[in-house]
Amino acid sequence: TRVAVLISGAGSNMAALIDAGQGADSGYEVALVVSNVEGAGGLAIAAAKGVETVAVPHKPFGKDREAHERVVDEALRAAGVEVIALAGYMRVLTPWLVGGWRGRMLNIHPSLLPLYPGLDTHARAIAAGDAEAGCTVHLVTEGVDEGPILGQARVPIVDGDTPASLAERVKTAEHRLYPQILGAFCRGLERG
Ligand code: GRF
Repeated sequence: TRVAVLISGAGSNMAALIDAGQGADSGYEVALVVSNVEGAGGLAIAAAKGVETVAVPHKPFGKDREAHERVVDEALRAAGVEVIALAGYMRVLTPWLVGGWRGRMLNIHPSLLPLYPGLDTHARAIAAGDAEAGCTVHLVTEGVDEGPILGQARVPIVDGDTPASLAERVKTAEHRLYPQILGAFCRGLERG
């Protein structure tokens, strides 16, 4: 299965997805990395791993989100992409893009959804006094962080945790969970 990873930043999940996809029987390969941020750290990492990359900055499109997405979508179709994995892609998607990829777009979110959709998840989990945090891979639907859950991983919250220390622990879990869930998802698609 040909997968595109969409990023805005460092791309540590993207790197984990590329590496796992290159393994035998992974069920997928990362064929393209797209960023809305020119010079995003992840673009150089992907290129160094031999993956095609493209930057489509959103700024020139102003408030017209769909016009930006149409350019992204063209790049995806041209590369023969079958499944999209959002990995730190910091854009709210329009119903047009979500509808065009329904059932074929995954996202990873750094909380145990339905807890803490949106931003600052780790600070919110610590402030709430939660005993554990984690991450969720889910299908993308129109509602932000709302789609059907495909898998979750849990980590403890320990005394003295800061949002940064917790983020690091959750990230380690993300890097294991996302390739595992994406692989299973794509193998399922291939079986039909
Ligand atoms: C991850 O924590 C992911 O869950 C969230 O954005 C972050 C991206 O980090 N959606 P990275 O760019 O993969 O390092």
